[in-house]
Amino acid sequence: MQVTMTVNGTEHTREIEGRMLLVHFLRDVLGLTGTHWGCDTSNCGVCVVWLDGEPVKSCTVLAAMAGGHEVRTVEGLAEGAELDPIQEGFRQCHGLQCGFCTPGMLMTCRALLDRNPDPTEGEIREAISGQICRCTGYSSIVRSVQWTAAHEAAAAATKEEAVAP
Ligand code: FES
Ligand code: FES
Repeated sequence: MQVTMTVNGTEHTREIEGRMLLVHFLRDVLGLTGTHWGCDTSNCGVCVVWLDGEPVKSCTVLAAMAGGHEVRTVEGLAEGAELDPIQEGFRQCHGLQCGFCTPGMLMTCRALLDRNPDPTEGEIREAISGQICRCTGYSSIVRSVQWTAAHEAAAAATKEEAVAP
C-alpha cells in the first residue's frame, strides 16, 4: 500500500506493507534512526515520537495509521545547529548516560513543557512513567526538565522586558 505522511516538516510517500509499524517506517524506510526500538511490547518508551503534536509509542502505531498526519521525531527538535532547550537541559544536567532512552525521553519531556511550562517534580515523574531508563535513576532527567523550565521562564521574562515600553 502507499502511505504519505509529513515527518519533521517534509512530506514522504512510500510503498509499504500494511503491517509495518511506524517505528520501522521511520528507522528503516526514512533512515531516521534517532527514534529507538527497544522492547516491542509497548513498555520501554524509547520509540516515542509525536503524532499530530501528541507523544505516542511508535511501536504501537501502524505506519498506515500515520498516513495524512504530522510526525515529529527527535531529529526535528533542534533548529539547525541550535539545540532545543530540552536537549540543552539534558546536556547541562546529565540527563543521559548511555542515551538509549534519550530520544523518547526528550520527546515526552518537550511535550510536557509545551502544555505545562512549570511542572512539579511529581508531574515530571508521572509524564515519564511510561518510559524506562536503566542508567540515570531518573533524578537527573527530572533535574534536566526543571532546568529547562527555569531556563525557558527566564528567557520569556527577558523577552518581555525587552519589548516593554
Ligand atoms: S519499543 Fe516502543 S515501547 Fe518499547
Ligand atoms: S541513559 Fe541509558 S537507558 Fe537512559
